Amino acid sequence: MLKISAGSSDLGTLRVPALALLIEQGGTPDLGSLQDASARSIRRVLEARDFRGGRDEVMQLLGVDGSIERIMLVGMGKIGDRLAALKRAASIAARRAHQAGFGRLALFAGSVSADDAEAMAMGAAAGAWELKEFQTAPPEDERRAPLTEALIVGDQKAITPGIARGMAVAEGHSLARRLAMLPGNVCTPDYLADTAREIAARHSMKVTVLGRAEMEREKMGSFLSVAQGTPQEPRLIVLEYRGGGDTAPIALVGKGLCFDSGGISIKPAQGMENMKFDMCGAAGVLGAMEAIGRLGLRTNVVGLVGSTTNMPSGTAVKPGDVVQASNGKFIEIINTDAEGRLVLADVLSYAKRFNPSVAIDAATLTGACVIALGHTATGVMGTDEQLVQEVLDAGKRASEPGWPLPLWDDFMPLIKSDIADIKNSGGRPAGTITAALFLKEFVDGFPWVHLDIAGTAYSEGDLATIPAGPTGVPVGTFVEFVRGRAR
Ligand code: BES
Ligand code: MN
Ligand code: ZN
Repeated sequence: MLKISAGSSDLGTLRVPALALLIEQGGTPDLGSLQDASARSIRRVLEARDFRGGRDEVMQLLGVDGSIERIMLVGMGKIGDRLAALKRAASIAARRAHQAGFGRLALFAGSVSADDAEAMAMGAAAGAWELKEFQTAPPEDERRAPLTEALIVGDQKAITPGIARGMAVAEGHSLARRLAMLPGNVCTPDYLADTAREIAARHSMKVTVLGRAEMEREKMGSFLSVAQGTPQEPRLIVLEYRGGGDTAPIALVGKGLCFDSGGISIKPAQGMENMKFDMCGAAGVLGAMEAIGRLGLRTNVVGLVGSTTNMPSGTAVKPGDVVQASNGKFIEIINTDAEGRLVLADVLSYAKRFNPSVAIDAATLTGACVIALGHTATGVMGTDEQLVQEVLDAGKRASEPGWPLPLWDDFMPLIKSDIADIKNSGGRPAGTITAALFLKEFVDGFPWVHLDIAGTAYSEGDLATIPAGPTGVPVGTFVEFVRGRAR
């Protein structure tokens, strides 16, 4: 994890391999305290309009004075949301510095508040993140120094608390990205359970882990029908954080399919490897719990994860089978690839015993959501319009935009079964909505919002700010929601 601290606001005394200046489009950065020669060359570049501060624009110059070896100009574009722009630019700067092997980086964005520094810290940590565990190191002379330290230039007393908050969220974020990136043969349901136990130990949370036998006792026929095709032990993981006395907890729920082959309704081979990311909802819950523990938020939160692996086998559930969930409802399984909702049905039913004030679940639930909203927005649906808006606002603050879809009963006929209470697939029309309506049948006694993160939780290609792989969604949305309630 990147180490981040406040750096002297006197640029003239700064000694670093690289300084990144985060510059607004059309803005003139205050270079007052930068040594003359370097400041002059930057002004010349800006005056010549070689660099214009456009969003994601980057230019690298050599420092002329020696104390700062390199200068990176990073554009923030025309600023609408200052915190989002700072976070993004800091991320791009850190990613470039990490790739180039600068080792240490200072970030300068003029006069910054604690909240600005928080956003910059989150961005820098996200930009420097990578998973190298499965690559042998290149020969010595080809190695580049990883980015190990970042300095945020500003008033130390004012911004240090902001940096600490940003780092707390970044730790949760990077934990979630690591879990998501780990291959399915490493990150198993047991691995997620062990990770939850570590989080619990770090932050004195209560942890409960159910296996097949315990779930059988709870009559979780829906969850268990997905798990019956794999020899791995399925896990229902519960983490309880108590920072708010005797008040009702916020429940965060995550889909944790460590691999989704589709089961008997098997998926095409092309791109199937990406289904190791089918546990991004679960990773989001665990990452958020880590961040909440570090932030010491004054509220109660219960994190619930339903984890297994969807495999075809002689014992696997078949299309046409009927199973009974723990709330008594009978489900006809039309398509074994609609497994996430089968797992979440029993986890959402289980959530009721915690009497949550609200529940938010996150799941890489439907390919239809990727068709509807691409990789740009999370699909958001729920039982309470105000709560949906509260979650959308939290997502916006976290730079994890969501967009609402209508959760109308008018779509219910699509998942009506001829033999059972409900069927697990309504086919292609309104696929994201029918999946959410299915989940709603298992929500009882609390307002609930569902996040379909199938398009936003991971990226198949490199993005400007991060490499291909997990984006960290929905950690930020979860954390911002809980912070909003804890205020
Ligand atoms: N995990 C998938 C959804 C998914 C697809 C996530 C693409 C990320 C990218 C989910 O379990 C699934 O297979 N859903 C089916 C549902 C259908 C059978 C009703 C789908 O979307 O095709
Ligand atoms: Mn599936
Ligand atoms: Zn799935």
